[in-house]
Amino acid sequence: MKNHHIGLRKNIKLSPETFRELRDFIYEKSGIFFSEGKLYLLEGRLNRRIQKLELESFEEYVAYLKRGMNQKEELTMIFNLVTINETYFFRFERQLKVFSEKLFPVMVKTRREQGRQKIRIWSAGCSTGEEVYTLAIMIRENMNGSLGGMKIDLLGTDISHNVLEKAKKGLFTKNSFRGSMPSHYKAKYFVNNSTHAEIKDDLKRNVEFQYLNLKDVHKIRLIGSVDFIFCRNVLIYFDEMMKKRVIRSFYDTLNHGGYLFLGEAESLHGISSAFKVEHFPGTFLYKKE
Ligand SMILES: C[S@@+](CC[C@H](N)C(=O)[O-])C[C@H]1O[C@@H](n2cnc3c(N)ncnc32)[C@H](O)[C@@H]1O
Repeated sequence: MKNHHIGLRKNIKLSPETFRELRDFIYEKSGIFFSEGKLYLLEGRLNRRIQKLELESFEEYVAYLKRGMNQKEELTMIFNLVTINETYFFRFERQLKVFSEKLFPVMVKTRREQGRQKIRIWSAGCSTGEEVYTLAIMIRENMNGSLGGMKIDLLGTDISHNVLEKAKKGLFTKNSFRGSMPSHYKAKYFVNNSTHAEIKDDLKRNVEFQYLNLKDVHKIRLIGSVDFIFCRNVLIYFDEMMKKRVIRSFYDTLNHGGYLFLGEAESLHGISSAFKVEHFPGTFLYKKE
């Protein structure tokens, strides 16, 4: 008989060989790449899970994964456990201002002239939703009723079901507000209590969240064409080959005149030269001409 209580307390060691096997498997399924230095991170994050399954070692776990019986469910667990979901409202605000004050209003005008009725915005790797809700708030603040019937689709996708559930609930704690969101927005867009702030229903109705693994290029195609892609602080977890694949799909997914937004310290240097680089105060963006 195994003692669950004691079982959950021990630390199962991950050997360098099994680490490589496991990280290659995760890479193959998600494009997320763990370099040699990340052995302890994987060991730490998967220890509890292995013990919960009443397995004795990482070797048994890899065999269990590869046997394939519960592979889909197990991959869901892995993605929930190994992804880094760090995010907050109004992150890299300088860039968001360029979007909401400059590019978005121009896009509305252009698309209207083209006879289009919809603008689509996609946050790829949206985590718990702060980025998508920030965009919804900024659009409301800046367009102030001047959308003239233009419909706005705001879509957030992620590989972790856990974060998507949180994003859909729209329930946030203090940590999500460590960015530079103007304080009066808290009352305007959230229902507040002593511990949580919940996005008001009418804003929630403006956004949608879906599961999407960026490794599945054919699934990216199902998103359809979009005008803006935000993929900030996501590419850092991929190796070069995966970055190139994902960026190529983003290029195909963007409408002409559309923009790709990367994180503050990220660039497409060495990854793609398909986009035109446009410079703005404090940021640069990638345009599909
Ligand atoms: C650090 S968060 C970035 C959140 C937000 N974009 C921001 O900048 O604040 C990275 C997110 O990318 C997601 N991610 C990692 N690999 C992915 C993949 N292969 N497909 C889809 N999402 C992935 C993670 O689950 C995580 O929520």
